[in-house]
Amino acid sequence: MKITVVGAGAVGASCAEYIAIKNFASEVVIIDIKENYAEGKAMDLMQTASLMGFDTKITGSTNDYSKTAGSDIAVITSGIPRKPGMTREELIGINAGIVKSVTQSVIEHSPNVIFIVVSNPMDTMAYLTHKALGIEKNRIIGMGGALDSARFKYRLAEALGCPSSDVNGMVIGGHSDTGMIPLTRLAVRNSIPVSKFLSEERLNKVAQDTKVGGATLTKMLGTSAWYAPGAAVSSMVQAIACDQKKMFACSALLEGEYGLRDISFGVPCIIGKGGIEKIVALDLNDAEKAKIQESAAAVKKTNGLLDV
Ligand code: 2OP
Repeated sequence: MKITVVGAGAVGASCAEYIAIKNFASEVVIIDIKENYAEGKAMDLMQTASLMGFDTKITGSTNDYSKTAGSDIAVITSGIPRKPGMTREELIGINAGIVKSVTQSVIEHSPNVIFIVVSNPMDTMAYLTHKALGIEKNRIIGMGGALDSARFKYRLAEALGCPSSDVNGMVIGGHSDTGMIPLTRLAVRNSIPVSKFLSEERLNKVAQDTKVGGATLTKMLGTSAWYAPGAAVSSMVQAIACDQKKMFACSALLEGEYGLRDISFGVPCIIGKGGIEKIVALDLNDAEKAKIQESAAAVKKTNGLLDV
């Protein structure tokens, strides 16, 4: 299993690191435009192999896509991250051109590749990739929901005073500060609805803290986060590589599901060796359905800024 990570920044490097540590891939190629940067990250990571106990071979390349040839999965992290006070949507001008060009370069050398798009604004970048490449819809996955759901579980565990492994919950909708929809009604602590333990007010705070999870960290770090994004991507890569048929909220091209079409949007999906193997329908109440429509309208507005 060969995996390409485009972008050797903090998210790309963390993603490559977690993939290697989990030891399920034979090869990871990191590629970046900055001279020798990906090569340096790859060498640094390879020098951890004997310490961390992995056999994955990590190599780096300065913009030579022939080195990525025959990749099964490509993770697209390239583009600029947001700075404190910026929304993800504000990155569209610069990132759209970058994402279009790198995805085209990847597919030239790996015609059967499955893409995981991380660059922001993520739902719009995943949609752009669909429009630009015109490949089967199951082969383009937007990473947002997996990360947002991990942040939701962190906030739920914090509110409940329990380990994250005791809780389960999912965030659907657009990957934006206002568009995320943490499904508090369906969240559980060891199969018991969390509403049994937390007041409505506390749950609303959990939802709000989740939605601004990325913005909170951007303010604290001066740039956007990387550990949780890298870990979320690596879990999705593993689900494809190991054909796990695992459920993730992720941005999928919708053709009528949830009453939406011609949009890449966060919904629960089964991820396996075919990429998005199934979109899962949820029984949502009217308030949740209304949030989906509102969130989708905002994503469509951002998509309208694309030149596709
Ligand atoms: C986040 O930290 C990378 O969008 C990303 O939320």
